[in-house]
Amino acid sequence: MTADLAGRRILLGVTGGIAAYKAAHLASRLVQAGAQVQVVMTEAAARFVTPLTFEALTGRRVLTDLFGPQELGHVDHVELAHWAEAVVVAPATANVIGKLAAGIADDALTTVLLGTAAPILLAPAMESRMYLNPAVQANLRTLASRGVRIAEPGEGHLASGRRGPGRMAEPDALLALVGELLAPDRSLEGVRVLVTAGPTREHIDPVRFLSNPSTGRQGFAVAAEAARRGAQVLLVAGPTDLPTPPGVERVDVESAREMYQAVMDAFERGVDVVIKAAAVSDYRPRTRLEQKRKKTGAAWVLELEPNPDILAALGRRRRDGQVLVGFAAETDEGHAHARAKLEAKNLDLIVLNDVGEPGAGFAAATNRVDLLWRDGRTRSLPLMSKEDLARVLLDEVARLLGRAGSGDA
Ligand code: CTP
Repeated sequence: MTADLAGRRILLGVTGGIAAYKAAHLASRLVQAGAQVQVVMTEAAARFVTPLTFEALTGRRVLTDLFGPQELGHVDHVELAHWAEAVVVAPATANVIGKLAAGIADDALTTVLLGTAAPILLAPAMESRMYLNPAVQANLRTLASRGVRIAEPGEGHLASGRRGPGRMAEPDALLALVGELLAPDRSLEGVRVLVTAGPTREHIDPVRFLSNPSTGRQGFAVAAEAARRGAQVLLVAGPTDLPTPPGVERVDVESAREMYQAVMDAFERGVDVVIKAAAVSDYRPRTRLEQKRKKTGAAWVLELEPNPDILAALGRRRRDGQVLVGFAAETDEGHAHARAKLEAKNLDLIVLNDVGEPGAGFAAATNRVDLLWRDGRTRSLPLMSKEDLARVLLDEVARLLGRAGSGDA
């Protein structure tokens, strides 16, 4: 969906990277689309492209200096933070990403970024190793969980001559994303969505349990995006450190049986959509010891008994009009196993996760999945962030409900 940008007030932040020249192209595209574009540059950015370039393209003075003469209004950075309807930072260096994640404001751009209530889009651009650095990745995840939109960089030729991820998203793709920021998707307005996320823990004794490496990130991303689209979201979460997304009601559980109870209670109260991203332990120890078991030196044989299958129980209780989405974590023959689960559990859609693939599944920031529908259709998706997968998945859920998602042209 490309929103009408005529007359809209866009603040374009430019930071110091070689991709700053592409920001000039973006400024030009925004102006051609009818937007009012105000550029704020960091000092480093002004070494790559002169403010004059942007002034010529936008017809507005560029703000670079927090302490220079006030050029634009009363107190420039405060005025601009209120003026902007959407903010895009392109290119976004590791530096500006880190400052925004940490809440640091030490120049005109970061001051505007912290002071604005407008939606923010970041277009990271940097060397692959910097981009993949765990600190940068953690900052991007933090920002995404706060609702900042990240335009994933592409793979390809970098300024250093090397190849890899880190090339800034193309200006046309950014233009479309700015349109989305300005016309938020409300395709799930009023829909009651139940999401489960994270692992479960099955205690053996007070200090030991059976579990799995699920972090809950995919389910939390789905809950956050559903809430942004206007849904009433209940998130039933296994143990995880993740913060509750804005606008989401959360119930914390530990074991599969607790999750079963929480899900059934919510289902009885009424839900329209269930998205079951949790990695539920299929078995629990037959007995839970009250005291810590001391080591004896001898082998320890654990007897396990099956947990209830929550999704299968929902599949039996579901009524017409409800949408049930499951996940399938597989290591081999994924399609056959996923289709069997889809049918056995009476689902509309199943998300097949090949946990053996690099970058996919448990504890990764990205996911690579196939979608399988009950009518036999399948859709293979490329490697993408868990936030982007949440968007694609909710577009499909909106379609199953007979509503249009943002992915519809
Ligand atoms: N699920 C559930 N309750 C369980 C086990 C799984 O609700 N006790 C749900 C998961 O949340 C997921 C789907 O069922 O949406 C498939 O989970 P998965 O672990 O892939 O499959 P299982 O049915 O457990 O089958 P298996 O472990 O044999 O592959």
